[in-house]
Parts: sequence; structure tokens; C-alpha cells
Amino acid sequence: MAMSWAPDSWTKAEARQLPDYPDTGALAAATHRLATFPPLVFAGEARNLTADLAKVAEGKAFLLQGGDCAESFAEFHANNIRDTFRVILQMAVVLTFASKLPVVKVGRMAGQFAKPRSTPTEVVDGVELPSYRGDNVNDIAFTPESRLPDPERMVRAYAQSAATLNLLRAFAQGGYANLHQVHRWTHDFMGRSPWAKKYAETADRIGEALDFMEACGISPDTVPQLSQTTFYTSHEALLLPFEQALTRQDSLTGDWYDTSAHFLWIGDRTRFEGSAHVEFLRGIGNPIGVKCGPSLDPDALLRMLDTLNPGRVPGRMTLITRYGYDKIEAHLPRLVRAVTREGHPVVWSCDPMHGNTVKAASGYKTRPFDRILAEVRGFFAVHRAEGTHAGGIHAEMTGQNVTECTGGAIDVTEQSLADRYHTHCDPRLNAGQSLELAFLLAEMLNAEMAERRKAA
Ligand code: PEP
Ligand code: CO
Repeated sequence: MAMSWAPDSWTKAEARQLPDYPDTGALAAATHRLATFPPLVFAGEARNLTADLAKVAEGKAFLLQGGDCAESFAEFHANNIRDTFRVILQMAVVLTFASKLPVVKVGRMAGQFAKPRSTPTEVVDGVELPSYRGDNVNDIAFTPESRLPDPERMVRAYAQSAATLNLLRAFAQGGYANLHQVHRWTHDFMGRSPWAKKYAETADRIGEALDFMEACGISPDTVPQLSQTTFYTSHEALLLPFEQALTRQDSLTGDWYDTSAHFLWIGDRTRFEGSAHVEFLRGIGNPIGVKCGPSLDPDALLRMLDTLNPGRVPGRMTLITRYGYDKIEAHLPRLVRAVTREGHPVVWSCDPMHGNTVKAASGYKTRPFDRILAEVRGFFAVHRAEGTHAGGIHAEMTGQNVTECTGGAIDVTEQSLADRYHTHCDPRLNAGQSLELAFLLAEMLNAEMAERRKAA
């Protein structure tokens, strides 16, 4: 019973986690202006991503999705964008080499501003103020004025997203993504790291493969694909007035697309039945993700899949599981079995970040690197046991050398968290930890592929 859908039909459903704008006139003015702005992405690109993700769902590719927990106006610099892009490319090269599968690269970038919060207000030294909800809603400074939702922030977020996307497109297509160059960065980086020895073999083999190809005349000069890549953008479709304003009808197909990013996902707190966010995402043609945490039972997931992907289009749905290292093996098998039994084509992706947040004694929110790895291991183990493809990883990470997650080979200790703790929201993996994660993922993917060859 498909009900009719319109870009504003979500307004009749229950919306959680949306700001209460005090000035509705200013809200209308901002969203009307946004609605006249050009789309950030083109519907055809979103369809290409759906096709790429269909390959992941089939077990023929791997999804690498990563970037900031929350982008911010303060951290808007070319170098930040470049460094995160660079680490994602480095991770992709390592993963491609290990799995011999194409890696679909999607940034939590160019629009990842709005944040769901566990409480609507925050208390500091006895003072209670509205929670910070991301730079496109209010300001992180703890003052009553800063925490007032300001709709003009959406216009600024649009501008920052456009400039970020422009740079990402330039990097992806303009030669910066040259495969040899990307490998050289990894090589140089490893030279400085204590885990160089552990991963040197993989890195050397990648280098040899590239040298061999070059000797055969396959180089970025002769094969343009080696100096270019495809990079997609994504964010949580949380701030629905913004997403609605960027939703446009595609002139080629007549379908609606949310042109604020290629891929949009629904958070764990807004995916409940009857939610405004589910209603909104139901109607857009983009590939979409759903965060799956411990409170999601298999029947509710199946109903949601029927709502969001009634046509069972492969590549349309990515299920991003985020249980915590000690819960994944208890919860994930039930979901995998239900989805497999009903024949829904989905991408299974592992978010090993959001179930593993702890508070350090110093008060900083952190994530121990060994728990992140343990959740990834659990994810691969479940999919191996169920005969399904461990299809992707969803990480909060940055190319900067921050100290937000503890552990890793270049050990970040609880004491050093204060050194470079820059995140506006959740703790991110730094460049070294991200690469280390990629090498470990590579081992696991390699094992999955070896098992598949054995079974064939
Ligand atoms: C996030 O991805 O930043 C987030 C809030 O995740 P979740 O909805 O899974 O808690
Ligand atoms: Co987060």
C-alpha cells in the first residue's frame, strides 16, 4: 500500500531530533532561498552510486565510508579536506589490493553537519542550555545565544558543502588521486611509524605490483583511470528542512532526489516506525543507509526495508550495524538471517565507532582502538558464519593527527587525549589509526576471498 509521497510529507509524521526554530519566518526565508540554489549533486551520480553499491551487495565490491563525525565551520580548510580525502584513498588502495575487489569510496564529507543528541539539553556547572546540534543548527559555544537554532546556518552549511565538494571533485579527477602517488604516501608514512614492519610486506607487494604494471606500459600517463577516481559524498539526513529544500525532481526520470549528497542515511535515533525521517527517505531516489543498533529487532527491520525499498532495488539499501564490540555477535546474526531469508538485497556495512564510545577518567569521550578492531572482527566472523559478504566499513576518521581515540600502534593514551582533541562531536580515528584499520581489514577481506575461492 504505497502512500503518496511529497518532499514535505514528512511534516505529518513524528519528527525527533529536529531543532525548534524560534523564528519561523526566518526559517521559511532560509529554506525558500535554499530551494532556489543549484543542486550539489546530479541525480545520475546518485544512480551510479546505487549501481556501484549493487556490486557490493552482490559480494563483488567493498564499501569504504568515512569522514568526520561532524564537519564544522571552524575546521573548514583545504588541508583538512585534502588530508581526509588522502587517507581514504590510501585505505582504498590497501583494501583493493588485498581483496582484489573494487572499493566504493564515500566520504562523510561536504554536508555532515547535523547531529542527533542523547539529551535535548546540556548542564555545565549547574547551567542548563539546549544541546549543540551541529554547525548547521547552532553554535558549540556554551552560551544561550550560541545555542539558539539559527536557520541562516543552513545557508552557510550549503556554501561550505559546495566548496568542499568542488575541491573533492578536483582532487578526484584532476590528478591528485594518482595511484602511484597514493602508494608513495603510504610508503612514506609507514617509514615513520612503529608498525611499518608489520605491514611492510603488504605495502611492498603493492609497490611491486605497480612497478610491474608500469614496466608493462600501464601507468597513469597511458591509462587515465590510474590518475582518477570516483568519490561520493554522504551525510545523515537529519535536518529535514534542509534536506527538503535540496530535494529536486530529476528532469530525466521524473523521480525525486535529495541533491545535498549522493548517499543519505537515517540515524539510530530516528529510524523508529512512523518516523518523519523514514517517511522522507522513502521518497528519494538516492541510495540510502540505515543505522542498526541493539534496539532494532529483525521484524521491524524487515518492515522498514519493505517501506524504504519495496522494489528491492539492489544497491538502494545499506545497513550500517553499530552494536559495540561485545554485542555484535549476539545481535547481528538474527538480522542477517531475517534479511537473507526474505531475499532483500542489502549492503552490510560495519560502523565500529558508535557502539564503542566510553568516557575517559579525564572526562573526554573516547573510543579504544582495540574495541573498534574487535567489533570489525566480530562483523567479519558473523558474515563468514552466515555465508554473507562483509560488505563495508563506516568510520569516523580524519586525515589530521588528532588524539581522540585511544590505542593504535602510535599509541594514543588517556593522558594524551587532551593534546589534540579537536572533534565537534564524537572521537575520530587519526590518519595512522585509519591506515592501521585498513591493513587489518585487508587481512580479513583477504581471508573472506580465500574462503570463497575454496568454496567455488
Ligand atoms: C553518527 O553516525 O554520527 C551517529 C550519530 O550515529 P548513530 O545514529 O549510529 O548513533
Ligand atoms: Co558520530
